Amino acid sequence: MEIIRTSSEMQKRALELRAAGKKIVLVPTMGFLHAGHASLIDIARREGGVVAVSIFVNPTQFGPNEDLDKYPRDFKHDCELCAEHGADIVFAPEPAEIYSPGHSTWVVEEKLSKGLCGRTRPIHFRGVATVVTKLFNLTQATVAVFGRKDAQQALIIKRMVRDLNMPVRIVVAPLVRDADKVALSSRNRYLSESERIAARSISRALLAAEPTLRPETAADAVATVRAAIEAAGGKIDYVEALSADTLDPVTAGSRSILLAVAAWFGPTRLIDNVLVEF
Ligand code: PAF
Repeated sequence: MEIIRTSSEMQKRALELRAAGKKIVLVPTMGFLHAGHASLIDIARREGGVVAVSIFVNPTQFGPNEDLDKYPRDFKHDCELCAEHGADIVFAPEPAEIYSPGHSTWVVEEKLSKGLCGRTRPIHFRGVATVVTKLFNLTQATVAVFGRKDAQQALIIKRMVRDLNMPVRIVVAPLVRDADKVALSSRNRYLSESERIAARSISRALLAAEPTLRPETAADAVATVRAAIEAAGGKIDYVEALSADTLDPVTAGSRSILLAVAAWFGPTRLIDNVLVEF
């Protein structure tokens, strides 16, 4: 497995691989990899081609009072996991490799980014769309794999790729849960033991709502999920049921529903969702 630290080397290597007729499959991550990331690498592997995993804690997607400084990192473990799952390249640049001094160009998706996480994290998706565009350019990816835990992010990336004619196919991989059904996230590391137990209320409520989730039950499902999380001591950022492909309000004609949650347990903000298609 190659470890590449600079943008120029990454792009040079990617262009060589593409010139040799290879397909490049990118798994973009912020590191501190867990079984959810491993599943993305496994899916990337099955696509065939060269699998590149990027590990970059992207400063521009964190707001001023968010957890950029304490975001967990473990590069040695990340490399071990990438190697075990058959990644070919780890691209792990420092911020200065990605953002030149005076960086002033941004990629902004203007519809899907407004609601859900965009409401309380107004610059988040601008940072995500910009860094993902850069990672596509640097790795020359032909396929990129994103997790459905970040369902809004995956939709925005798909929309960006469509709107800007980027020659990348986006694969959205299933959400992976821990044994206690909590959605895997690098931020779970912040939870105390009691917060972790309380945080199970999110997935418990979502998974209970899932089997009967339909346009006519969506409002009740939102109220029930909200009440369950609050009863466990969580502070709600949002609980919403939206049409899964547009993030518009659910109507009688909706063919799929995303029931999505963001909630705080202590100082930790967690997100989770279920997606029902019918
Ligand atoms: O989902 C993430 O880990 C990040 O938002 C991503 C896509 C790697 C961009 O920094």
